[in-house]
Amino acid sequence: MKAELPQGEEKARVVRTMFDRVAGRYDLVNRLMTFGMDVGWRRRTVAELRLPGGSLVADLACGTGDLCNELVRTGYRGVGIDFSAGMLANATTDAPLVQADVLRLPLADGGTDGVVCGFALRNVTTLDALFAEVARILRPGGRAAFLETSEPEGRLMRAGNRVYFGRVIPIIGGALSDREAYAYLPRSMAYLPPPADLVEMFREAGFEDATRRPLAGGVAQLLVGTRR
Ligand SMILES: C[S@@+](CC[C@H](N)C(=O)[O-])C[C@H]1O[C@@H](n2cnc3c(N)ncnc32)[C@H](O)[C@@H]1O
Repeated sequence: MKAELPQGEEKARVVRTMFDRVAGRYDLVNRLMTFGMDVGWRRRTVAELRLPGGSLVADLACGTGDLCNELVRTGYRGVGIDFSAGMLANATTDAPLVQADVLRLPLADGGTDGVVCGFALRNVTTLDALFAEVARILRPGGRAAFLETSEPEGRLMRAGNRVYFGRVIPIIGGALSDREAYAYLPRSMAYLPPPADLVEMFREAGFEDATRRPLAGGVAQLLVGTRR
């Protein structure tokens, strides 16, 4: 992990204020930088839950609520949780939203049927704590699906992805929103453990059937599991 990346409480403060700053243009930049592919990835994330209609599903680190909208569209009762007041203020969803830290969820033990979480594994201070909190709120048999960016395994895709994330995205993000924030995005990839370690951490938290699937040639990944 790069030494200059913030850690602990400092990281939480940097992340929260950064998302407060970019909130107004977050959706636009997201659509552009993924060429709209994030829409399909979100659909796939929610489809992986395979829960009965009406199930209660928490969208952790919901941001502006895109996954909440997909939950509602699919027939779930979605609730979005995020600690950035700016992202919540710019949310465009009918789902109820709560301002809270996803590492200290205001939800009862075992009272939630499903969890989705988009592009936030990199952003929390401790992944173990997030997985433990998800395990705490889910009922046995509950499902969790985490969507995240990823580094492709193939050398060519990996090199192309590095140029795109490291050089192009800071320019697009800088022109439309906040250069510093969109320069942080590629750097924040260093917070993610290697794929096998990520799956193992999730398994150890109580999701024995955990699987990880690369999306779009490996530029994104979907981690799915069932609460024991
Ligand atoms: C890249 S955005 C993703 C937003 C949304 N999930 C999506 O798919 O577009 C990351 C979000 O994680 C939120 N976040 C990061 N750490 C958090 C924490 N500990 N508690 C609550 N929200 C957090 C940020 O405020 C931000 O809205």
